[in-house]
Amino acid sequence: MQYNFFILPPMSLLDQMKERASANPQRIVLPEGTEIRTLKAADIVLKEKTANLILIGNREKIQQLAAENGLKYIEDATIVDPDTDPRMEQYTSILYELRKMKGMTPEDAAVMARNPLYLACLMIKNGDADGELAGAQNTTGDVLRPAFQIVKTKPGISVVSGAFLMFTPTPQYGENGLLIFADCAVNPSPSAKELAEIALSSAETARALAGFEPRVAMLSFSSKGSAKHELVDKVTEATRIAKEMNPSLMIDGELQADAALVPEVGQSKAPGSPVAGKANVLVFPDLQAGNIGYKMVERFSGTQAVGPVLQGMAAPINDLSRGCSVDDIVNMITITANQAI
Ligand code: ACO
Repeated sequence: MQYNFFILPPMSLLDQMKERASANPQRIVLPEGTEIRTLKAADIVLKEKTANLILIGNREKIQQLAAENGLKYIEDATIVDPDTDPRMEQYTSILYELRKMKGMTPEDAAVMARNPLYLACLMIKNGDADGELAGAQNTTGDVLRPAFQIVKTKPGISVVSGAFLMFTPTPQYGENGLLIFADCAVNPSPSAKELAEIALSSAETARALAGFEPRVAMLSFSSKGSAKHELVDKVTEATRIAKEMNPSLMIDGELQADAALVPEVGQSKAPGSPVAGKANVLVFPDLQAGNIGYKMVERFSGTQAVGPVLQGMAAPINDLSRGCSVDDIVNMITITANQAI
């Protein structure tokens, strides 16, 4: 489905995503079921009926917190309590089968399957949930590790990466101010092949979530050979591999950020490029550049950065910042549900 958001402010894209999610409710599992912001967000989502929610945690504790906070829609959630759920043996055996080659014993598996972050991924693997959102309480690494080990990547993609939807106040750039930035969250130092996969996943995120046809710029400190360095070589090689993997993708590199974004600079530094001067997807060469880059744009320009949206995973799993608000969680549940559709 394509969204017609080009002349609308950021919230309209999220509103359209909410509509789409309500029309086809997905089962989203929230492993941090006793975390209060998560419960408040779950109450809103259940009220708006944008997803069917599964909360992992102690049933009495969840019910008590809901009552204390006047969260009356929580009763519509499915609660999965690792202490009492009849499927725990089944989940334990799935985990053991998946990880025995890595040295996991049946006893380890029984303990780990009770960890809500592992249990959520096992539910997805077993077809009992369509997507997961966590991270209000847990670190990025702790959320991602079980996802990598259990849910794994999509066919043809070996790395999961993290993209941001950047709603900038500068309509002259990207798609009326909206751009995708990646990888800003996961891979500290991707190889050329991994960078190529990040480009393809980001293009897919642009189509599936932002609703526009991607024009991907592979960023560097050099444009079309203006500088010679092994770091530049990695970006040109990644561009070549991405083109080979998807010949119809509009992608170019290596490009400096100004050559990617500004038509006159693009024309002078990369004449004839299909992307230079009009890129709407920016792929950063590594995580230091990507993470610093998105935060700088966000702070200096009043951009709304929505994400990280994890891409390349076999099922949608997203990670929150531990500083997130209730609204952030509601928005990310909506995004996760849209990815699941
Ligand atoms: N995609 C797919 N699978 C992966 C990836 C990836 N990007 N990275 C690791 N894996 C897999 C490995 O293959 C391995 O699988 P296996 O056990 O079946 O062999 C498993 O995950 C664990 O791999 P490790 O290399 O041991 O990974 P580790 O757990 O040490 O680190 C992590 C993974 C936590 C994601 C690490 O890359 C990391 O810390 N990245 C940075 C995260 C971060 O701090 N981001 C910035 C903050 S987020 C923000 O500001 C928005």
